[in-house]
Amino acid sequence: MSVRIAPSILSADFARFADEIAMCAAGGADMIHIDVMDGRFVPNLTFGAKVTETVRKLTTLPLDVHLMVVEPENYFDSFADAGASILTIHVETSPHLHRQLYRIKELGCLAGAVMNPATPIESVREVAADLDLLLIMTVNPGFGGQAFIPASIGKVERARRMLDEVRSRAMLEVDGGVSHDTIASLWRAGADTFVAGNAIFSAADPRAEIGALRQRCMEVV
Ligand code: DX5
Ligand code: ZN
Repeated sequence: MSVRIAPSILSADFARFADEIAMCAAGGADMIHIDVMDGRFVPNLTFGAKVTETVRKLTTLPLDVHLMVVEPENYFDSFADAGASILTIHVETSPHLHRQLYRIKELGCLAGAVMNPATPIESVREVAADLDLLLIMTVNPGFGGQAFIPASIGKVERARRMLDEVRSRAMLEVDGGVSHDTIASLWRAGADTFVAGNAIFSAADPRAEIGALRQRCMEVV
């Protein structure tokens, strides 16, 4: 299993946006994580398909779009057109999860499901074999820079077990409070894809931090 690092541009300096994206690529990022918030599903507003299209022009890295919105299906076409590689939808706001995941695939994107800290793993069991990515929130979504919820480690272990049971090759991603201090235990628990906003963009050397986070996983025996 290889470690994937996905910097979250929510924490980037938007005055130097193109440089920040170039820094991610130069530091060896595996994909760019784009946090889309609608001020309804989560108490914050961020950006939409237009910014995604801009990122698409700035890099060839896969674009990992995290949709924190109600009725996410209303936006699938515009994000697919904007160049999204992965569209990940919250189970809490996707009552027709199976249909929604297959619509994402139809549009040529990888399909991901994500759950909040209070949402049980069982909520995705019936579609686990259909997933290209499973994202476990390790904070309550809405803001960057929040404290990691320690109980998430056990949840990641259970998610890994569930994916293995259905022989899924889905990426197991974690998002929120991923840092030098938390990444190794998440990797040990079975996560392979790590979103990091604050940890990378607030580091003294953000470019080196991408490699340093990856290195923390490699040190786990
Ligand atoms: C939170 C977002 C995260 C956020 C992570 O709602 O989904 O992707 O940017 O930020 P950090 O790594 O700072 O916790
Ligand atoms: Zn996110």
